[in-house]
Amino acid sequence: MELAARTTSDYEFLDAGDGCRLERFGGHVFNRPSPVALWRPERPELWKTAAGTYHRSNTGGGDWSFTHKPPPQWPMKWDDLTFTIKPTGFGHMGLFPEHTCHWDWVSRQVSAGGQPCRVLHLFAYTGAMTLLAAKAGADVCHVDAVPDINDWARRNAEASGLKTAPIRWITDDVLKFVAREGRRQRQYDAIIFDPPSYGKGPEGEKWILEEHLLKLLDLLLPLMSDRPRFVLFTCHTLGFSPPLMKNLLVPWLEKFGGKIEAGTMVMKNSHCKRVLPTGFFARWSGAE
Ligand SMILES: C[S@@+](CC[C@H](N)C(=O)[O-])C[C@H]1O[C@@H](n2cnc3c(N)ncnc32)[C@H](O)[C@@H]1O
Repeated sequence: MELAARTTSDYEFLDAGDGCRLERFGGHVFNRPSPVALWRPERPELWKTAAGTYHRSNTGGGDWSFTHKPPPQWPMKWDDLTFTIKPTGFGHMGLFPEHTCHWDWVSRQVSAGGQPCRVLHLFAYTGAMTLLAAKAGADVCHVDAVPDINDWARRNAEASGLKTAPIRWITDDVLKFVAREGRRQRQYDAIIFDPPSYGKGPEGEKWILEEHLLKLLDLLLPLMSDRPRFVLFTCHTLGFSPPLMKNLLVPWLEKFGGKIEAGTMVMKNSHCKRVLPTGFFARWSGAE
């Protein structure tokens, strides 16, 4: 199963190739690394319109070079949500458009049945899924390690008219927090998580996907309430695959029934014959 990111008037995936992807965020075009784009660009004439190009260094970081410098930050609307976009030192823009392929599904899962829905959102970054779930009516617990990133997410919530929405903003290490929630016997109807390959908690706690993922999943299963709604698990780490991700959610199937879908997230443009794969997903839904 392939799910394509949505487009909006403020965002467009333009092309990919030669190890890079070209996208428009608002009025500005950016060229960023995408190691899986092993083909030639299909729209070579567009690449010179890039305002900024991110160059990854061998040591893991990177730098931007600009042909015309965009403002330090600008607002971008997506449906009725508003995000602040800015080119960051990691080459991120403050929003991962690849995850928009799940937005409609998450909104539908949250609002299905008209019952309250408590969502746990881990590795939550600038909060796109937090805002989306809150807009659909969920109570959300948003967890990220970086205080500045959580402040950014809060500003996005404010700009999206969600300042007073029931969102719990947590700055903590995911593994520590989830273990603590288990001890407190807190429960959630839904979990969204997008674990990076490597990360760090606020006190330098190491997150290494291949070492810690199973522990996280073991801690998450008992957090599900007795009316479990959904789990959305996305991952961008090379070597992962839809069958692997589906296997990792089988404990939900065994405990609660329901169904799992798994597949590849892609970016598409109607002018390009090729799609750009951006990661994998598995999503469990309690509804048959
Ligand atoms: C690639 S982003 C996830 C993208 C996000 N899910 C989205 O859709 O916008 C990874 C996030 O995980 C956070 N992170 C990394 N290690 C962490 C840890 N041990 N505990 C909590 N958050 C962590 C980072 O601060 C970063 O915001």
